[in-house]
Parts: sequence; structure tokens; C-alpha cells
Amino acid sequence: MKRAFSRSPKRQGARAIVSLIMMAMVLSTFGAATSLAQSTPDAGTPEGATPSVGATPAADAPDIPSSSFGTIDGEDVTLWTLTNAAGMEVKIMNYGGIVQSIRVPDRNGNFTNVALGFDNLGDYIEMNPYFGCITGRYANRIALGTFELDGETYNIPINNDPNTLHGGEMGFDKFIWDTIPVETNNGIGLQMSRLSPDGEQGYPGNLEVTVTYVLTENNELRIDYLATTDATTVVNLTNHSYFNLAGEGAGSIFDHELMLNADNYTPVDDTLIPTGVIEPVADTPMDFTTDEEIGARIRNSNFEQLFIGRGYDHNYVLNRPSPDDESLILAARVHEPTSGRTMTIQTTEPGIQFYSGNFLDGSLVGPNGQMYRQGDGFALETQHFPDSPNQPDFPSTTLAPGDEYTSTTIYGFAVD
Ligand code: GLA
Repeated sequence: MKRAFSRSPKRQGARAIVSLIMMAMVLSTFGAATSLAQSTPDAGTPEGATPSVGATPAADAPDIPSSSFGTIDGEDVTLWTLTNAAGMEVKIMNYGGIVQSIRVPDRNGNFTNVALGFDNLGDYIEMNPYFGCITGRYANRIALGTFELDGETYNIPINNDPNTLHGGEMGFDKFIWDTIPVETNNGIGLQMSRLSPDGEQGYPGNLEVTVTYVLTENNELRIDYLATTDATTVVNLTNHSYFNLAGEGAGSIFDHELMLNADNYTPVDDTLIPTGVIEPVADTPMDFTTDEEIGARIRNSNFEQLFIGRGYDHNYVLNRPSPDDESLILAARVHEPTSGRTMTIQTTEPGIQFYSGNFLDGSLVGPNGQMYRQGDGFALETQHFPDSPNQPDFPSTTLAPGDEYTSTTIYGFAVD
């Protein structure tokens, strides 16, 4: 699908302010501003995040610097810059909710951008392998683009032959989200929302979605997801940032040390759909229960799962005290020895997809002017398991009217 875009940044003036105020009024009228305080756990502050359009009138919204990042189909794309007192800086745009850059210090206090991405909107529109974006309505794969709910069969686009990947052809990563700056207990941020209409990409139900990004004073990027529906549907939301803790464009991530809090994973068939079996990682190259270099075993073709995935492209089953536990737990820790940077990921989700950038092939160029080649970045996507709508034994991704889908993930940055 061809979309009209302009690379030339245009300043946004009074029009943007007026539309923000109107957006806030519309959202509060329709009650989209459910307080996240009741529904989301919080690592450090027990009261949780309290971003809400209703509680934060547009007039009191924090002043977050923004600039135009171009236009798509005549609509402005805005890029906001969140900064905390420690100097950490995160840039996020309303197109796809894409996190364009994350600047964090190394052990000597030198800041660099550790998120893969592009320096222009055109590349995001034309060739983005999901860098930084919100993925939905169903993150990861659904087998053969079909599932059943309450006896009805639904067909969704097959965009990763023979399966559906990350929602379909027009997933949540390809829309402009209504965005307002917010101030929360945890820091300043951006609240993004959109109504995914009934039938969009074939999914049932009008789905109201709110994704709130917050940069905390503890060098964390926190993401809270909230969704409600008016008809039974399936939902699985995540952020698809790729990282290289030595800096985007710095080359391979094979020397990064990874810990995954998962004794089990879901093996896949040769189309990357889970077989349905939950397998222990022990005594296999899938085992990251203690710190291991990502590249140490990645070329082991004797281990069929690595051969199928061309490396790691697997959902890990996070260790939880019980299957219905949804507390915020440590899911992953990554350490880059040269810079000393570490990243931790906490989540309320049951799974995490570890993807070692296997499909990067040198055809994409990052903001530093460096090509991204295979293994130059990794993604750790907190999520429900792939293909859950077709896998009755996996945690359910069904959302019914009256219920709330909530999810929280916190990426924390530090140095050793
Ligand atoms: C996910 C998938 C991978 C790949 C990337 C995007 O992580 O699991 O197979 O499709 O998205 O390239």
C-alpha cells in the first residue's frame, strides 16, 4: 500500500495546541481517561502511575518539547522529546507510537542512542521492521490468519506467509495515535490513544486502546497499556523496540550478556508458530536463566529451533508463582561489557519474545549512517504467547466487553 508522506519537517504552532485541547475534551467526554492507578502495578511507587486525560487538563499538561517529523496522508507526525534530571532522553512519535531513540549514559557518563531506528519518516513508513512501535491488535503471529471466537471464524490478513504477524497489514504501528503530554507520579510522558474500529483488519469489536509512555527519574521507560472492547475480541499489545546497548549502528549484539527469567519456552514449527508444547530450556542453547552471551550458541545448527529461527526468535515462558499471576516481575536483564550499560525489563505479561535481529540484512540504515546487518540489534517483546487464539492451553488473549486489558512493562537503564 502506497502512502503519501513528506520528509520535510514543518513547525507546528497554534493548530497543534488547539487540536490537543480538543482531543483532551473528546477523550474525557467519552471516558477514555480511565485512571491507570487501579489497574497497573508499579515497581517502585505503590500508588502506581496516574496519567489520565481527565485528571490532567490540557492546560496543566507538561510542556514537552516537540517538533514535526513530516506528514503522512496529509496528517502531521510529531516527535516529542522526554528528558529527565539525569539527562536520559527518549524520543517518541505519534505515528505508530514509535520510540525513535533512547539516549542513556555508559559507565563514563557518555550518552548514546541505544534504540535502532531511522532519522526520517519515509523509512519508517516504507521499510520499518517494527523498530520501536506499538504492535497490535495482536502482537506476534496468528497461524494461517484465522481464529475462532464464540463459534465464529475470523479471517485476518496474511502478511507473513502463511501467517498473520503483528496485527496484519495495517497494524497499530501504522496509525497516527491521538497523543497528549501527561504528568504522572512517576514522571512526564505521553498518553496515546486510538479507537480500533470493529472489523479493522478483520478483528471483532470496537477496541479503545490507551498506551502511556513515561520516562521516570530512575532512568526507566515505563509503558502502560489499557484496552476495552464492546464485543469479544483478542488483544496482545507490546512495544517492538530493538536495542544495541553499545549504541545503534555499533555492530553485533552477540557479546551482550542476556538473562531471561524463564525456565521454559514455546518451540515453533518452521513458520514460527508455536507447536503448543512448553519445553524446558535446560541443557539447550535456549537457556538464558543465567547470564550468557547472546552469540555464544546462536550458530548451533544441530539445535533445530535455532536453525528454524535463523537464531533466536522465540517466546519464553516467564517464571511465575502461578499461571494466573500478573504481578510485575523481572523478565530480562541485558549487559553490554564494553560500555557497561545494562537494561532490565519488568513486566506483568506471561511471556517475552526474544528476537536476535535475524532478518536484518544490511538494507536498512540507522541515524548514524551505519547499515543494520543480521544480529546488529535485539528485541525483547513482552507479550502473551504467539497464536494464543488457536492454542487453548496458553494464557487467554480473549477480551470481553466489561473487562479491561491492562499490561505494564518497564525498561530500566543503568551501568555496571
Ligand atoms: C518479531 C518476529 C520476528 C520478526 C520481527 C520483525 O519479532 O517474531 O520473526 O518478524 O518481529 O522483523
